[in-house]
Amino acid sequence: MNPIPLQANITAVTADLIVVNLFEGVAQPGGATGAVDKALGGRIAELIALGDCTGKLGATTLIHTFGALPAPRVLVVGLGDRQRFDLQAVRVAAAKAIAAARQAGARHVATIVHGAGVGGLDPQAAAQAVVEASILENYAMPRQGNRPRSDSRVETLTVVEFSAAQLPAVAEGVRIGRIIAESAVMARDLIATPANIATPTYLAESAQRMAAEVGLRCTVLERDDAAALGMGIFLAVAKGSDEPPKFVILEHNADRADELPTIVLAGKGITFDTGGFSLKVNAAGETMWRMKYDMTGAADVFAVLRAAALLDLPLHVVGLTPLCENMISGHAQRPGDVYRGMTGKTVEVISTDAEGRMILADALAFAGRYRPQAVVDLATLTGAIGVALGPKAAGLFCNDERLQERLLAAAAATGERLWPMPLYDDYAEDIRSDVADVKNSALPVKNAGVSTSAKFLEYFTEGYPWAHIDLANMAWADPGRPLYPKGATAFGVRLLVQFLRDWRP
Ligand code: BES
Ligand code: MN
Ligand code: ZN
Repeated sequence: MNPIPLQANITAVTADLIVVNLFEGVAQPGGATGAVDKALGGRIAELIALGDCTGKLGATTLIHTFGALPAPRVLVVGLGDRQRFDLQAVRVAAAKAIAAARQAGARHVATIVHGAGVGGLDPQAAAQAVVEASILENYAMPRQGNRPRSDSRVETLTVVEFSAAQLPAVAEGVRIGRIIAESAVMARDLIATPANIATPTYLAESAQRMAAEVGLRCTVLERDDAAALGMGIFLAVAKGSDEPPKFVILEHNADRADELPTIVLAGKGITFDTGGFSLKVNAAGETMWRMKYDMTGAADVFAVLRAAALLDLPLHVVGLTPLCENMISGHAQRPGDVYRGMTGKTVEVISTDAEGRMILADALAFAGRYRPQAVVDLATLTGAIGVALGPKAAGLFCNDERLQERLLAAAAATGERLWPMPLYDDYAEDIRSDVADVKNSALPVKNAGVSTSAKFLEYFTEGYPWAHIDLANMAWADPGRPLYPKGATAFGVRLLVQFLRDWRP
């Protein structure tokens, strides 16, 4: 999709379909919708009276114009209750409009900026929300076969603003929204690509290519480099696979590291999680195919770094992504093994399926080298987070109040919800090992599996403000939701870009 800002009266725009909107309870629409209604001889008001056009949030009504307007179709999308109207309502309305346009087979769509007029929202933020939601909703999974990626997708989106004075703000929102959403789309493609293709090598090469395109520094550590750094816990997970592990470091503003605040983002990059010898069985085995998504954290980090570069954020941002496959072989780690990582602390492997926290342990240790103002890790870490929260919010664990506030603010601003979870000191007792410094799972104790996983990570943080986001429950949508069609969501990209954009020392 190619969103283009345009100063025009929506009634004059040529497109396969034009999108206008309606608040709930309005009988006589005003503004752009009123102008379209007038051109249609009051047909929208008639449909409202009939009860076929309700204004309920995300509800759509398709109307054919039969020559009354240059566009053959008008879509009225509901904005819901005016009292509860916000940017998230704008996103849902825009997404539902794109879904309906796809259904109608429209290739060229023009839309007004929901909320920028009577809605009273900041026009730049509203335009950004419309574009992000439209691109994210227009997504279709990559396909490896002979069929094309999708049946029906919108090719161009004209973002129409009547007021010439507001056009620059709208254009800026379109630019920012496009960068962020296209970054998330890049992550979705990597996540959805099968693990036999999207190996650690493939992901490292993708990161290198992307870095060269947008001007990031990219360093790829090979197995030997990681070994020389003492990353024995990361490499323990990698041992079972014939695919060589990679540890990718992406850096934005690397040459200005001394003058700018440093933020480190770390992402779990398990390209496939079989569980290892603690093999996934029963219910987990039936959905094992989905474990190609276990590198969502890493793909999200690539995407956030891409956006940071293209938005030219005044920060030194470092992305750390340990990439490997969790497999079974004669070289694989066993339950009961003990490994020493970069910090010198040792881990007893209770379950080889608790591999994400192991690779992140060395990434968090490495993060300390940058003397960061904050470290945020993203991971599809536990099934337990889904038991606690369902597919409604990712879990947030944080050792610093100010950092937690910043992340919760970014979550509220983007609609990518976070819910705070506890890091009580007593959880440490559950992962105390008889033979090593710590064990990688509290099993056979199953309670609070999500908190003990976070407690394990905390043990490897090195004196910086740190947050851990467990998004295992948010990373794959099935069924789809508005903005998140079925499949990889790249949840967390919009959230962390917002977090970085709002960073003030
Ligand atoms: N990648 C999984 C997390 C996961 C599990 C996501 C199920 C979605 C559904 C992670 O590596 C894992 O296997 N976690 C285990 C930890 C356990 C062995 C302590 C889990 O959550 O079952
Ligand atoms: Mn696992
Ligand atoms: Zn995993």
